[in-house]
Amino acid sequence: MTCGLLQKILVITCFHLIYLSSQQELNFVYHSFGGQENLYLDGSATVLPNGLLQLTNASDHQMAHVFYKKPIGFSSSKPLSFSTHFICALVPRPGFEGGHGMAFVVSPSMDFSHAESDRYLGVFNVSKNGSPSSDVLAVELDTILNPDFEDIDNNHVGIDVHSPLSVGTATASYYSDIKGNNQSINLLTGKPLQVWVEYEDTMLNVSIAPLEVQKPSQPLLSQPINLTEVFPNSSRLFVGFSAATGTATSYQYILSWSFCTNGGSLQTLNISRLPEVPQPRSEHKNYSQLITILLGFIATMGLGVLIGVYLFKKCKYAEVTEEWEKEFGAHRFSYESLYKATKGFNKDGFLGKGGFGEVYRGTLLLSREIAVKRMFHNDDQGVKQFVSEVVSMRCLKHRNLVPLLGYCRRKHELLLVSEYMPNGSLDEHLFDDEKLVLSWPQRLVILKGIASALCYLHTGADQVVLHRDIKASNILLDGEFNGRLGDFGMARFHDHGEYACPTGAVGTIGYMAPEIIDMVASTGTDVYAFGVFMLEVTCGRRPVEPQLQCEKRVLVKWVSRPTMEQVVLYLNNSLPLPDVSPYTVGFSSYSSVLIDAASLVASRSWSASSASSS
Ligand SMILES: *[C@@H]1O[C@H](CO)[C@@H](O)[C@H](O)[C@H]1NC(C)=O
Ligand SMILES: *[C@@H]1O[C@H](CO)[C@@H](O)[C@H](O)[C@H]1NC(C)=O
Ligand SMILES: *[C@@H]1O[C@H](CO)[C@@H](O)[C@H](O)[C@H]1NC(C)=O
Ligand SMILES: *[C@@H]1O[C@H](CO)[C@@H](O)[C@H](O)[C@H]1NC(C)=O
Ligand SMILES: *[C@@H]1O[C@H](CO)[C@@H](O)[C@H](O)[C@H]1NC(C)=O
Ligand SMILES: *[C@@H]1O[C@H](CO)[C@@H](O)[C@H](O)[C@H]1NC(C)=O
Ligand SMILES: *[C@@H]1O[C@H](CO)[C@@H](O)[C@H](O)[C@H]1NC(C)=O
Repeated sequence: MTCGLLQKILVITCFHLIYLSSQQELNFVYHSFGGQENLYLDGSATVLPNGLLQLTNASDHQMAHVFYKKPIGFSSSKPLSFSTHFICALVPRPGFEGGHGMAFVVSPSMDFSHAESDRYLGVFNVSKNGSPSSDVLAVELDTILNPDFEDIDNNHVGIDVHSPLSVGTATASYYSDIKGNNQSINLLTGKPLQVWVEYEDTMLNVSIAPLEVQKPSQPLLSQPINLTEVFPNSSRLFVGFSAATGTATSYQYILSWSFCTNGGSLQTLNISRLPEVPQPRSEHKNYSQLITILLGFIATMGLGVLIGVYLFKKCKYAEVTEEWEKEFGAHRFSYESLYKATKGFNKDGFLGKGGFGEVYRGTLLLSREIAVKRMFHNDDQGVKQFVSEVVSMRCLKHRNLVPLLGYCRRKHELLLVSEYMPNGSLDEHLFDDEKLVLSWPQRLVILKGIASALCYLHTGADQVVLHRDIKASNILLDGEFNGRLGDFGMARFHDHGEYACPTGAVGTIGYMAPEIIDMVASTGTDVYAFGVFMLEVTCGRRPVEPQLQCEKRVLVKWVSRPTMEQVVLYLNNSLPLPDVSPYTVGFSSYSSVLIDAASLVASRSWSASSASSS
C-alpha cells in the first residue's frame, strides 16, 4: 500500500519533472552583466569591465547577438506568455549620423549567421525581405529611416514578425501618466532608455520611457499576435538581443535586463545600480576644443592686431613730455592732430625749407589754416629754453608778428604751429620772378609794419625781445600784404634794463652788425639788421650776392654814398630821389620818384624783374 503510494508519488514527481523540463519557467534578472552567466554572445557583443553589455561600438557594419542560453519551453496545452523589462542606451558618435538600432528578439534558434547587419539589424537578411522563411519575432528600436521597409521615420519602435516590414510601428514616445499626454523620446540621445515588452493572450504590448519615468499605464504599441502561429513547429524559444551598425554607427548597450514567463513576477530593475554608460565626449571635446583653440587663436590674433595698431599709432604719434612742460600744456598741440592737419606732412602742403626745418601747411578742425614748422634736432639741450621762449612768444601780441599758436615736441623733433600766412614770405616776392611784384606803397607798408613790430619787441613787451634774425625770408605776408615778422628761432628774451647774456654770434651773414663779433646781441644788432633789410627791400637784392664782382658783393658796402650837395638838395626836397636800381651804381641816375608820403600814392611800380635780369 505504502509501496504503491510511494510508487504513485514517484511517478507523479517524475511526470512533473519531465513536464517542468519541457515547460521551463524562466525568471531572471541582470542588474548588470558582470558574470555573463547563461549568456550567449556573438559578433561584436562584449561585456565591458563595468558590467555594461556592449552590443556594438561605433565601428561600421557590425552585428551582435546576445541570448539567454536557456530556452522558454512551451506547448499548445499551456499558452505562452512572458514579460520583459530592459534598459538600453544608443549612443551616437558625436559629429556622425547614428544607426542602425537594436531589437529584442524571440527566436527558436540562436544561430543568426545568415543575418545581415545595417538595416537588417542582425535579424533578417535579403531573402527574408518580405518572404518569411524563418521564425522570428523582433521588437526593433530603429534609428534609420528605410523607405523600402516602409519605415515611418528615423526614430521609431516596431514589431517585426518574420520580416523587417513591421506589423506594428510607432514614433518613439511614451504616455505620461502625470501630464496625461504622449511625450516624444529621441532614441539616439545616448541616455538610458527603459523598454517593456509583454505578451499574453495573443496580445503583444511595447512601452518605452526615459529612466526617471515609471512604466506608462498605456503601451506605445499594442499588437494582436498569436505566437503559437508565429512559431508553429517550435517547442522552445530563445530570448535576447540583436544590434547592427552600417555606415551609420552608434554605441549600443544593454545596461540591465529582467525577464519572466507565464505570469511569474518580473523582478524590478534597480535603477541606482546601473552601470555607467560611456559618453564619447572625447571627439566632441576635441572638436569643441579645436573650435575653442581656433576662436582663441582668432581672438588672440585680433587682439594682437589691435595692440599692434595701438602701439603703431602710439609710436607714430609718440610725443615727449616732461614735468617742466606741464605749465605750457595749454600751448601744446598733439602730434596726432598736427599729423592729421598736414595729412602726414604731405609734400602737397610743403611751404618751404629754412635753416631750421621744413614748413608745412595744414588745416585744423574748424578749417583753421596753420603753418607747421618741423625742426629736427639731435640733442635735447636748449629745448626747455626754446619751449619756454615759444610760450613767451605766444604772449606777444602785435599785428605785425606772425601769431604763434603753440608747439609740439617729440624725440629729436620740435614742431611750431603758427597761423598760415596766405601770401608767403617777402623774399619770394622780392626775388622770385613768378610772384607778384610789390609796389612801392606795398613795400613801404611792409617796412613800416616791421619797424613797428621791432619797436614793440624792444620796448612794448614785458621783456626785451631780440629777434636776432631779421631778413626778408623771415617776413611773411598776410592776406592784405602786411609784413609780419616770424621765425623766432634765434630770439632772446631779457628783462628791461638788463643785458642779454653773450650767446655766440648768431644771425645771417650780411645782416649781422659789426659788433656781433663781440658775441653781444642788443637791440642795436636788430636795428642794424633792420637797416640791411630796408636796403634789401628797396633795392630788391640780397645783402650778399657772392657770385657778383667783388665791390658789388656786399650790399651795405656797395651803396655809394651821395655828395653833401645832393644831401642838402634831397633834404630840402629840391631834388627828386634817385632811382635805386639793384645793379646800377647807387645814386648815379635820376628818376622822378620822390620818396615822400605823396609819392607813395602814385608811384610807378618797382621792377624787380629788371633787377634780376641783368
Ligand atoms: C570596435 O571594436 C573593434 C574590435 O574590438 C575595434 O577594432 C574597433 O576599433 C572598435 N571601434 C571603435 C570605434 O571603438
Ligand atoms: C537568409 O537566411 C536564411 C536562413 O535564415 C538562409 O537560408 C538564406 O540563405 C539567407 N539568405 C542570404 C542571402 O544570406
Ligand atoms: C499616444 O500615442 C499612442 C500611439 O501612437 C496613441 O495610440 C495614443 O492615442 C496617444 N495618446 C494620446 C493621449 O495622444
Ligand atoms: C496590453 O495593453 C492593453 C491596452 O492597454 C491592455 O488592455 C492589456 O492588458 C495589455 N496586455 C499586457 C500583457 O500587458
Ligand atoms: C493561436 O494559434 C493556435 C494555433 O493556430 C490556435 O490553436 C489558438 O487557438 C490561437 N489562439 C487564439 C487566442 O486565437
Ligand atoms: C512545420 O512542420 C511541418 C511538418 O512537421 C511542416 O510541414 C511545415 O512546413 C513546418 N512549418 C515551418 C514554418 O517550418
Ligand atoms: C538598489 O541598489 C542600491 C545600491 O546597490 C541599494 O542600496 C538599494 O537598496 C537597492 N534598491 C532596491 C529596491 O533593490
